[in-house]
Amino acid sequence: MVHMTTRRRSASYTQDAFFPRSVSDAMPTVVSGSGVLLLDDRGRELIDVCAGPFLASLGQGNARVIDAMARQARELSYVYARTTRTRANAEFSRTLSELLGEGYDRVHLTSGGSEANEMAIKMVRTRAVARGERDRSVVVTLMPSYHGATVLTLGYNGDDVAGSLWGDLTVEAERIPAPLTYRAPSPASAAAGSLASLDALIARVGPTRLLAVLVEPIGGQSSGVNVPDPSFIEGLRVRCDETGAALIFDEIVTAFRTGSVLAADHVPSARPDITTLAKGLGAGYAPLGATITSADFADELADTIGFTVSHSYDAAPISCAVGTAVVAEIRDRGLVAHAAEMGRRLRCGLDDLREHHPMIGDVRGRGLLLAIELVADGETATPFPAGTDPAETIKQIALEHGLLLYSRRQNAGRFGDWLLLAPPLIIDEGSIDLLLSRLDDTLAAATPTLNGALR
Ligand SMILES: Cc1ncc(COP(=O)(O)O)c(C=O)c1O
Repeated sequence: MVHMTTRRRSASYTQDAFFPRSVSDAMPTVVSGSGVLLLDDRGRELIDVCAGPFLASLGQGNARVIDAMARQARELSYVYARTTRTRANAEFSRTLSELLGEGYDRVHLTSGGSEANEMAIKMVRTRAVARGERDRSVVVTLMPSYHGATVLTLGYNGDDVAGSLWGDLTVEAERIPAPLTYRAPSPASAAAGSLASLDALIARVGPTRLLAVLVEPIGGQSSGVNVPDPSFIEGLRVRCDETGAALIFDEIVTAFRTGSVLAADHVPSARPDITTLAKGLGAGYAPLGATITSADFADELADTIGFTVSHSYDAAPISCAVGTAVVAEIRDRGLVAHAAEMGRRLRCGLDDLREHHPMIGDVRGRGLLLAIELVADGETATPFPAGTDPAETIKQIALEHGLLLYSRRQNAGRFGDWLLLAPPLIIDEGSIDLLLSRLDDTLAAATPTLNGALR
């Protein structure tokens, strides 16, 4: 069969060469950055409202991280973690473990979030096999949710639209409804409903087949930063204890952002068995993910059949040097407490915007992980009609008002539409105020277009 090639308008050598034209045509070309600001090739100065995808936690050009990277590259650029140990690996894992606290004792490093989640699943499966529990393979996730883009994690995402693309290629997780608070009678009733679904699921598949419950303790882009009632997290812990399943917290978005080191710290009564980190850990300076367990968990694997699944870049020395410097910056500059303080200011400003922009139905989140839900009618919480993508419309208009927004529609808007606000943790009062005034202008400019879509 002969494939026809079509001549394109212009050659594209960037990653978006594979994207749908509707997306790639509108993408700005960024040429430089400093702190929370980016400069594009049209001379526009943009505030990085979501730190990329909740990632560039220290902003652009952090001197301590850059120096650490260069020093490590000169001293020892790479050796393979399957065959050698490095000081860079030991120092990073110890620094991270000390910041996270007791119970977060052992660190397995990867190149990103999807890999970290896959490693978590592979670890609990290995433990189950070592214990003679070969029937344990059922993974429970939330609808909606997001855990990654590898073939395994694609099957775990709570995204029915994207999921339909992969068919039998993926192993599907069992989904229970996420405890979404906005349209529920109360956060506690949303939690109770989700837990009742989990109980029904356990009764259906059988407790001894349950391998893991994998959740974002506070949601990211897939739920518009849904903050569940603490009873949800506590209920998951109880059910995992009863069934012998592992509780895995995906903190790839939430770590360092929500006013505590981990989102798990908001519910100290319910600790996970495994925690995954990525994004803000490498902060954009190096690809980095981590799968973190207690010493007991790691020892059980090491003392039985062992866990040696690896990728060539796991614990790469330069990534480790970056990670150590990022964690040291977060610790030494008190960025967790700073995120709480800046988050209060940003949230206050968003609450004010809600007063005069009826399209803001809900303001939610914690610390510097916030979202506004976009609605057609705030009184009734009615979403925008299917076929309208309000966040995408606003995102394009925002570029003309000095904001780089991040939003990615999941489930075709079935659970709602939102804009995410999660700037670099280093943001100061002045930049928060500027962000808010630019957002005000953006929403005002977007209103006629969005009202038009409702007619
Ligand atoms: C909650 C969550 N988990 C996992 C991932 C996957 O991380 P990565 O893109 O680094 O593979 C993401 C990425 O958006 C995420 O938001």
